[in-house]
Amino acid sequence: MTQDELKKQCAKAALEYVKDVPVVGVGTGSTVNFFIEMLADRKADFEGAVSSSEGTTQRLKELGIPVLDLNNVGEVEVYIDGADEVDPRKMLVKGGGGALTREKIIASASKKFVCIADQTKLVDVLGSFPLPIEVLPMSRSYVAREMVKLGGQPVWRENFITDNGNVILDVHNLEITNAIEMEKTINDITGVVTNGLFAMRPADLVLVGKGDVVEVME
Ligand code: A5P
Repeated sequence: MTQDELKKQCAKAALEYVKDVPVVGVGTGSTVNFFIEMLADRKADFEGAVSSSEGTTQRLKELGIPVLDLNNVGEVEVYIDGADEVDPRKMLVKGGGGALTREKIIASASKKFVCIADQTKLVDVLGSFPLPIEVLPMSRSYVAREMVKLGGQPVWRENFITDNGNVILDVHNLEITNAIEMEKTINDITGVVTNGLFAMRPADLVLVGKGDVVEVME
């Protein structure tokens, strides 16, 4: 199977988890895009979706799925999103598409976070994928220097502005031995909006597209 076929496979498996829920949280990325297409066939069965990015909002609307404001829906029953890396504890690196802040907000506000990932995303230790950090524009150089002190090599994602009007540093070569500590430490740097470690709020379930089967990591 191609990687896209694996993405479709895990996206399809996620449909099982959105039965009988009024509101679906929807992530961002190429894997989720397959999920959105499949979700559209079920749009009569739920009220609408809470969206994690302008890109996802546009896709949802194009397919006639109502987009709801998170402030008006309270706790979200289930959130479906992809990942850039998944470790055995279901901790993730996310933000390759730059939508990490809204993704983390919805993940935090959701009862169940179902991550959909093809098998290429599985790692033993997080950090081979450069860790995205969303920062306020004026703090970019300062945060970059702080990340060097933590052992990383930050690279400014040039010509990219997040949906929140901020910029992204992609930090290479971080040794993430304690993901929860690292997530907290980076969050504490002034000017950081969010970092792409999803360790304090990991996925509850990961559906891994493996070709012959979809493995469920619980
Ligand atoms: C978006 O900002 C990311 O967190 C995505 O969820 C992640 O990059 C996975 O994207 P793909 O499904 O395109 O690999």
